[in-house]
Amino acid sequence: MNAIITGATKGIGKAIALKFASENINLVVCARSQEGLDALAAEIKEMNPRVSVQTKTCDVSIPQEVKDFGTFCLSSFDKIDILINNAGYFLPGDIHKEEEGLLEKMLNTNLMSAYHLSRCIVPQLQKQKEGLIINISSVAGLQAYSQGGSYSISKFALTGFSKNLRGELKDDGIKVSTVYPGATYSDSWKGSGVEEGRIMEANDIAESIFALTKLSKQAVVEDIILRPQLGDL
Ligand SMILES: NC(=O)c1ccc[n+]([C@@H]2O[C@H](COP(=O)([O-])OP(=O)(O)OC[C@H]3O[C@@H](n4cnc5c(N)ncnc54)[C@H](OP(=O)(O)O)[C@@H]3O)[C@@H](O)[C@H]2O)c1
Repeated sequence: MNAIITGATKGIGKAIALKFASENINLVVCARSQEGLDALAAEIKEMNPRVSVQTKTCDVSIPQEVKDFGTFCLSSFDKIDILINNAGYFLPGDIHKEEEGLLEKMLNTNLMSAYHLSRCIVPQLQKQKEGLIINISSVAGLQAYSQGGSYSISKFALTGFSKNLRGELKDDGIKVSTVYPGATYSDSWKGSGVEEGRIMEANDIAESIFALTKLSKQAVVEDIILRPQLGDL
């Protein structure tokens, strides 16, 4: 199988990349840092030399870079089995107080990235008459919460994007799943004072996502909500 993952050098994206590579799924991945991509490719090569990993730097908040990355993906694989729109970032804020322009930045990175990349890749999936698109939303895309601000708005929008795409593509044999993780330990949590064992591991999300790739073609998991055992923070 062949998979595309955005934002694959850290956190949840990296955990998915390592899980997929350990299961012999070939990868095309992006992030902004070439150093991060080289380190990931070296780690995967060491772990499983049989799997191929192709990397390209891309800032997913810039539509032209996303389109160039999409073209790179299409030229890298004859067949694309899985697209994971994972890259995203979080800044806490209150809508009425957060800095001017934050909403636009959040929408560009957390929503428009998935919109533009999916539009590049969907025609290939339609030709194949199969494929799986997984959009990493958040519990912040399901409910309002304190300091959710523009992040929560962008994740609600991504949820809407994902659900509409699911409806559009179901007759083409293409599955679309939305994943809503709660707090998951990643770089964004380092230095936050939150104890690592209180929240989920990135690998918890990766394991759940891998399970989606094992279903029959007539079954789709539309939504996965994952939360820390002790609940949201
Ligand atoms: N961690 C959580 O608690 C949590 C909870 C719910 C949902 N999520 C969602 O899960 C996804 C991953 O979060 P995470 O916590 O794993 O993040 P993370 O640890 O901060 O890692 C983010 C990854 O995305 C890349 N990235 C960030 N901005 C990018 C951009 N503009 N263009 C391209 N790549 C970019 C980063 O590499 P570079 O810096 O090199 O670009 C890195 O590989 C996000 O969509 C996030 O909203 C996370």
